[in-house]
Parts: sequence; C-alpha cells; structure tokens
Amino acid sequence: MKLTFRLTKMFVFLLIISSMNSFSATKTEVKELICEYHINPVGIDIQKPRLSWQIASSEENLLQTAYEINVTDQTAKGKLIWTSGKVNSAQSVNVPYQGPALKSMQRVYWQVRVWDNKGKATAWSMSSFWEMGLLEPESWKASWISIQSESTEKGSKPAQYFRKEFTAGKAIKSARVYVTSLGLYQLFLNGQKVSPDLFTPGWTSYNKRLQYQTYDVTSMIQPKNSIGAILGDGWYRGNIGWVSQNGYYGSKLALLAQLQINYTDGTSEMIGTDQSWKVTNNGPITESDIYNGENYDARKEMSDWSKTGFDDNQWKKVAVIDQSKKMLIAPQGVSVKAIEEIKPIKLITTPKGETVFDMGQNMVGWVRLKVQGNKGDQITLKFAEVLDKAGNFYTDNLRSAKCTDVYILKGSGIEIFEPHFTFHGFRFVKIEGLASQASLDQITGVVIHSDMKTTGTFACSDPLINQLQHNIQWGQKGNFLDVPTDCPQRDERLGWMGDAQVFSVTAAFNFNVAPFYTKWTKDIAADQLPNGSVPDVIPDVLKGGGGKTAWADACIIIPWTTYLIYGDQRILEVQYPSMKAWVEYMKTRAGEDNLWTGDWHYGDWLAFATTQSDYPGATTEKDLIATAYYSYSSGLLAKIAGIIGRGEDAKKYAQLSENIKKAFIHEFVTPAGRLVSHTQTAYSLALAFNLLPEDLIPKAAEYLANDVKKMGHLTTGFVGTPLLCKTLAAHGYQDLAFMLLNRKEYPSWLYPVTQGATTIWERWDGQKPDGSFQDVGMNSFNHYAYGAIGEWLYRYVAGLDIDPEVPGYKHILLAPHSGGGLTNAGVEFTSLYGKVKSAWKLDGNDFVYEVTVPANTTATVTLIGAKAEQLTVNSQPLPASMKESLKQTDTGISVNLGSGNYQFRYPKK
Ligand code: BGC
Repeated sequence: MKLTFRLTKMFVFLLIISSMNSFSATKTEVKELICEYHINPVGIDIQKPRLSWQIASSEENLLQTAYEINVTDQTAKGKLIWTSGKVNSAQSVNVPYQGPALKSMQRVYWQVRVWDNKGKATAWSMSSFWEMGLLEPESWKASWISIQSESTEKGSKPAQYFRKEFTAGKAIKSARVYVTSLGLYQLFLNGQKVSPDLFTPGWTSYNKRLQYQTYDVTSMIQPKNSIGAILGDGWYRGNIGWVSQNGYYGSKLALLAQLQINYTDGTSEMIGTDQSWKVTNNGPITESDIYNGENYDARKEMSDWSKTGFDDNQWKKVAVIDQSKKMLIAPQGVSVKAIEEIKPIKLITTPKGETVFDMGQNMVGWVRLKVQGNKGDQITLKFAEVLDKAGNFYTDNLRSAKCTDVYILKGSGIEIFEPHFTFHGFRFVKIEGLASQASLDQITGVVIHSDMKTTGTFACSDPLINQLQHNIQWGQKGNFLDVPTDCPQRDERLGWMGDAQVFSVTAAFNFNVAPFYTKWTKDIAADQLPNGSVPDVIPDVLKGGGGKTAWADACIIIPWTTYLIYGDQRILEVQYPSMKAWVEYMKTRAGEDNLWTGDWHYGDWLAFATTQSDYPGATTEKDLIATAYYSYSSGLLAKIAGIIGRGEDAKKYAQLSENIKKAFIHEFVTPAGRLVSHTQTAYSLALAFNLLPEDLIPKAAEYLANDVKKMGHLTTGFVGTPLLCKTLAAHGYQDLAFMLLNRKEYPSWLYPVTQGATTIWERWDGQKPDGSFQDVGMNSFNHYAYGAIGEWLYRYVAGLDIDPEVPGYKHILLAPHSGGGLTNAGVEFTSLYGKVKSAWKLDGNDFVYEVTVPANTTATVTLIGAKAEQLTVNSQPLPASMKESLKQTDTGISVNLGSGNYQFRYPKK
C-alpha cells in the first residue's frame, strides 16, 4: 500500500491516461431481461407481468434516470403494441407492463433502453419475450380423462399410461402443449419426454389451485405423431400427511392435455384429451408413492408405447370425466428438476453384512441403478440418512415411510432404472438382490429440487463454518421441492409454516426464491380458514388445524422477506387480505387486553432440554411467544399497509402493535427488565421485536448475555435460534455471538458438523457423541430450521445487509464484522441489479474490505474502528466524492458509495 505513495509522476500520468482510455471505451448496456423472475416465460397468466433488467457498465456511480420499454406482437409481425415512452424513473426491477390486455396464447417481445446519470442512453437491449397461457376456462377445449376402472383397494396403485396417435399434415409454424393432471404426470411426444420438469403439475392446494404447464413442442411434431402420458399417485392420492393418509385430495387420477398446432398456412389444429385416447394400468410402474417408493417390473415394459405404430389393442378406452377447469392456473414458481448428479464415495459391508453405498452427501432425489442379471431377479434399494452406532443401515427415523425402490429385471443386458414418482432423502443406499458383487459405478445419485438460481455464496477462513454453510445450502436444496418442506425423508415432507418463516431470509440469500414464494404464499391464502386462522402446513393436508404463533405468521413474514430481498411490492398487495385476516384472527384470540394467552402453540419447538430437575430446560412460556409475535406481525402489517398505500390500516395496525407492546411489558416484563421466562428465546424475542421500554433494553440484553455465559451455549429452539446471535451482536455482545457460532460441542451449530453432518439436523443432538440417536419419533437429519443462522453469517459476519427503507438492494447496507478468530469472510450475492460483493480479510494489522456495488444501486459502508485519515480506497486517500458523505463516530465511519468495485483498507487495532 505504501508503494502507492511513492508513485513516480510518470506512473501517475500513465494511470490517468489509461483511465482516460477506459473512459473512452466505456460501455453501458442493458442485459439479463426477465419477466416475472423468469427468462422468456412461456404460458403465464399474469395480465400485467413485471419486467426487470440489469445494467452492465464499466462506469462507476452509474444510475438509471429513465427507461423506455417497447413491446411488439409477434403475430402482428412485430407491430408495436405498447411503448412505455421515456419514463423518468430509476426503477429497473419489476416494472409492470401497462399495455393492452393480452390474449390466451399470445406471445409478445420486449426490449428496453435506459438513460443514465451521465446523460447517455444505451442501445436497445436484445429482445426477450413472454407468452400467455390459456387464460380462461373456455380456452380449454380438451376434456379431463381417466381410467374406467381400477382396484378400489386403499394403497398405491399401478401408474396409468395414456396414449393417442395423430397426424399433422402441413408445415408447422408453432406447437404448444398445455397439460395438467390429478396426480403426477410425465408427458411424452413421439417417445421423448416433453420436458425435464419433474413432479408436474407441482403441489398446490389442488382443490382450489391446480397448475398446468405449457411446453413449446414445435420441434417435436412430425407428420405422424404419438402423444402419451404416465400418471402416478403423487401428493394427490398417494400417502401424505403424518398419519399416512391415502387419497387426501381424491381417489381418481386424471389427465388434461391440449396440443395446439399452428401451421405456416395460417390454419391451426387442436389435439386434446378426449374419449379417443386409450389407457392401461398394466405397465411396469406397479406402485409409486412419495413416502414408500416405487416398484418397477421391467418385464412389463411396453417398449415404444409412446411412439407411433405401438399396438394398443390391449389398452382400454378412457372415461371422460366431469372435472372443473376453473381452478387451473399457470405456474408462477420454478419447476422441480434433476439438478446435479453425484457418485457414491464408498461401498460398505456393514457388520450385519448389508451392502451399502455411501453417497458422501445427505441428498434428496433417487439413484439411477445400472444392473445386469436374469429375468425376474429383484433388486431392492433402501434409503437411509445415517448408519447406526455399530455401522449398520438405520431407518427407524423414517417412521412409517418405506422409502424403498424395487426393480425387477427383464434380463436383457445392462438395464438402467430410475423411479418416476417418488423421492428419497438419503446418504446411504442399501442394495439387495444383486446376482453379482456390487460395484461403485452401479449407482448414481440424482439430486432433485426446485430449479432456483443460486444467488449467494458465503465463505470464511474456518472450514467448519464453511461446512455449516454447505449444510445449510444442502438443507435448502433438499427441502425446496416445489413447497418448502420440513424434511424430505420420513412420512411427513410437509410445508410446515414455522420452519419456512424462520429460514426465509437465509433461503433468499442462498437462492432466488422470489418465484418459489410467490407460488407458495398463494396457497397460504387459498388454504386459510374463513376466520383468518392459518393452517400449520401449506398445502394443508392436516385438515385445517392451525392458528399457531410463529407458524401461521409465515403468511406475513414470507411476503415481507420477498419484499425486502427483491423489492417485490406486488406480493404484499396480493397477500394483503390474507395477512390482514391473520392479524384479525389473532385479535379475536387475544381480546381486549391485547395479550394472546391460553391457546396451544408449538412454542420454542425443540429448545434445549435436560433431564435435570433443577434445570429441566429452556422453556419459554407460549403466551409470551404468542403475544410477542402478535405485536411483531401487527407491526409488519402496519408497515406493509403503508407501503401499498393503505394509510388507514397503517395507522390502525401500528397502534395495535404498540398496544400489544404495552400489554406485553405489563404482563411479561418486571420493572427491572427481567422477563417472566428467563430464557434466551424470551429475551431475543423481546429485544428483536422491540417489545421493551427504552430504559430496560440494556438490562434485558445483559440478562440474555448472562444466560449465554452461564450456560456456555445456546438453549433456543425454532423460535429463538434465528434471533439469538443477531440480538446479542446488536446489543454489544458480539463476542458471545461468535462464541456460540464457534462452539463445537452439543448444543451448537458446529456439533453436527464435527459429527460429519452434510445437512442441518432437526435436533441439536440428532446423533449423540456415543453414536446413539435422539427419539425415533422425530429425528430428521435434513431439517433446515436451525440453518437460519445463515442469515447472520451473510448479514452480520460478511456484512451484506438489507435496507428496509430502500429494499431489494437498491440501497445496500455494507457493514462487515470481524471476530471469533476469523481472518476473512465474504459473500457474493446476485441481486436483481447484479452482483454485490462484501468480503473482508485481516492483512497483518490492516482490515481490508472489498466491495462490489452494481449499477443503478447505491450503498452505505460502515467500517468499524476506521478513522478517515487512515482509510484508503483502492490504495488512494479517501476521494472527495466520498468525503462529502463521510460520517465519523466513536465506533467507526460510514460513507456512501455509487456503483463500482472498491477496496478499503485501514489499520485495525
Ligand atoms: C415438523 C416440524 C414442525 C413441527 C411442528 C414436526 O413434525 O417436522 O419441523 O414445525 O412438527 O412443531
């Protein structure tokens, strides 16, 4: 660094010249066009879709001052159907289309150009498109079809195969298929699967919202064609819910598909499901169930069943059934796909003599089996997350879920098997029935999850914390399977609300979850009870139970998170009635005194517990939690009402929140600042949700800190855990927060890591140091809730924080915190504006901080312990532009930044 001060005049001159050169070569362009968070979506049903773009520029301090969007209609040969005109606005994210209403199947193209604060306009962007789906029920000309008859026995039934042949006589201009089902479907055209999407049509509150998918199949259509589909039970009529209920949504599988072919001569044709289709349930998938697995008898394969010329004489006529099309909706989320493949790392023979593959990673999906043997040989694959103390295969924690795939060989050389309508959560695979020695190359792990874009990476100098981050990300991969589930392995796999809300900010750092949450929150509203109560799981398959504090509040917290991270105001508008109904429901439960007492809740679920009589564990009173969340959610609702222009409600709910706070203080806080539940969770809630009188805050924080010191570890459950470190750090106890992070013994985040965990465990002591297990009734090794610490790693340790006043990273708060013995930590995050970087390292006596601020955003950097005169930026003294905004306080300095890359350096005492 000192070198910079010794630069010769010549060198300075060169620098100026080169910067002038780069100035003359500056380029600003608009790129990464997305519509409703998707690139070129096909088959959407949003009438005013929102358009976003990024600005790439070699110039610093770049802001957009205006934009212009042009939308042209493909069918009108590029005729302009809407222009925004030049709009003086800095908005580049989620700008709504305001043109004429679009029709079913209409495709439009759009381009954008922007003006910047340097007075320049960019060129028009490349064009992108979006295409509408079938917007009204009448556009569905096809009929729902189903098998005429099948066994009426309860339990998994064979998958159903549907087919039809048709000709497409003329030159094809375009072809789309619109398709959905009751149950899960896989669609084929001329022997090929139409899309890599899995578990379609996805899981929604089926009776109210059923998604259909739209696929562009133009290139798949031939003069003679065969279209076919396989239907499996899935969530619709398979086992779902923790009492293994079968057929929750219905007992009949059905298919609805409509293929629209447009010819170059301007004519078009529609091939839809109708009475002319044929069906059989005598195919190779003899059983399929999400919990129990799939049975596949390859001897029953019907080769080329979805190609033309197949002899379907033995197949039966379908029944056309009377099933509504009114609840059909286009997907807004992201589809589930096979995202990556992993190879087993070890082949084990257990003490019991079992042959077990170790995948090296607790993963979700299935294995692709490669096998050779005799016709009729039966291979059984069983799945487990862990081995027991003795090293044997262990499945007790899967409860009633059989998690077993069975493959019966057809006996013709090398055979490959992958299941269709089931998934497993596992690290270990037990194989039985092989004719010869197992070999490592015999199976491949296929990792499936919702196809969310990875947005965040966190890394630091401690490998154990990096493994924790890895485990958090894998916990999310495994449990973001169309809905956010609690776990992926046992007979549960449900959209538990509490788990989802505590993890939502962490989730939004790791991956782009905006479309995922947009879809799921609509199911919250759909399943909400008329009295405003919100079910415990969404989609609700537990028959309407709900109204639990910190669980139901997901209906407010998740839209709020989506707003904070993506600046998405529409989700607030769309979900507003649901959020308001929930607060109103709490009001009816709380009554006049504003205390929500007496109702049963999950509370601080799975908090630290002991068997000692003098300290049974950290039990936080449920009435306290309920009243705290009641105030918090009312306060959020007030903010949300303000943001979406409902001033009256904003005032009303702010007042309500304030009144609840007063009641909380009166009921749960002593005049000395002690809480009636003297637990880490109670103090974290009261401090984080601002439920204490100003003067008692330091005392309450001290009580919290003292408890952490006394115990030497965390004692929190699902409710307290996400708040603990951030609350300690916010009140001057950063060292204790880092102590908790660094702790390696039970209970802590790193204890499972030291035990070889590759995902987050449900229990702090899922597997004890002696190898024994927690209660089999509830012991998942892939439960993301405690992974909520990820938020603190990103926001506090790496220092990439959110400005709630200017959300979506339009204004970024950057405030890195070193501590806990770390020598570096950093995050790279792909915001909707582009890449943000916040990475620090200790370099000798210096604290070095690297930052990237994307175009069309600004940032405020806070550097603890820095003094203006000692600070360099990109090896230069603080430039005048930054000095203007500089604020020096006792603890450090802050400066405002425009877009660009910066390196700050200052001596750290
Ligand atoms: C789930 C949880 C859930 C809880 C309710 C459990 O069975 O796995 O994660 O939140 O029930 O407390």
